Amino acid sequence: MKLTYLGHSAFYFESGDFKALIDPFISGNPNCPFEVKDFPELSHILVTHGHADHIGDTVELAKATGALVVCNHELGHYFNAQGLDNVHTMHIGGRFDRFKMTPAWHGSSVEIEGKLYDGGNPGGFLIDLDGTKIYHAGDTGLTMEMMLLKDEQVDYALLPIGSNFTMDWNDALRAVDMIQPKHLIPMHYDTFEVIEVDFEALDIPQDLKMTILKPGESIEE
Ligand code: NI
Ligand code: MN
Repeated sequence: MKLTYLGHSAFYFESGDFKALIDPFISGNPNCPFEVKDFPELSHILVTHGHADHIGDTVELAKATGALVVCNHELGHYFNAQGLDNVHTMHIGGRFDRFKMTPAWHGSSVEIEGKLYDGGNPGGFLIDLDGTKIYHAGDTGLTMEMMLLKDEQVDYALLPIGSNFTMDWNDALRAVDMIQPKHLIPMHYDTFEVIEVDFEALDIPQDLKMTILKPGESIEE
């Protein structure tokens, strides 16, 4: 399997024929070293919630690749209205294919002509990459629900650490305590000034298994 960081909360996952993007914020993402055209082949696009920095280029990518968009029911309607017909909707706690949708404490809305519309519950995804389990938390504050993820035996926990809109570093460490993943991969930081993180200033436990991916970097196993 291969996991590539695109910056912010955007990742590319690959395992055999499964080629997926999650929260594909590419064209507007100041830290993303890729362009939309760098992903000509996608089987799935996952969207955790309805904010522009997570919906990103979903519509353009789905139209270009025919990828199945996986999201909550309300966002599914929005994507249908944007001309996408290959959409699978699910909701918190449900499993479908390689995915389980997990809860997140956050907002979720879509903007149409300057007005905000309901984007359903924000969420995250557990993704099974043929034996490697990834948890992408989406945008969330620390929540007790994360304790339930311990039983899922997560290999890589992708957790937001940028604060302001989501958990900060200290709460991400508390999340790691609850989830007990094999590795932590931080996300949702440094994209904008308000979520900048200085790793030098952080209290990083010596036994923490963390991989800080720079945008463009991958993990392969
Ligand atoms: Ni958000
Ligand atoms: Mn966000």
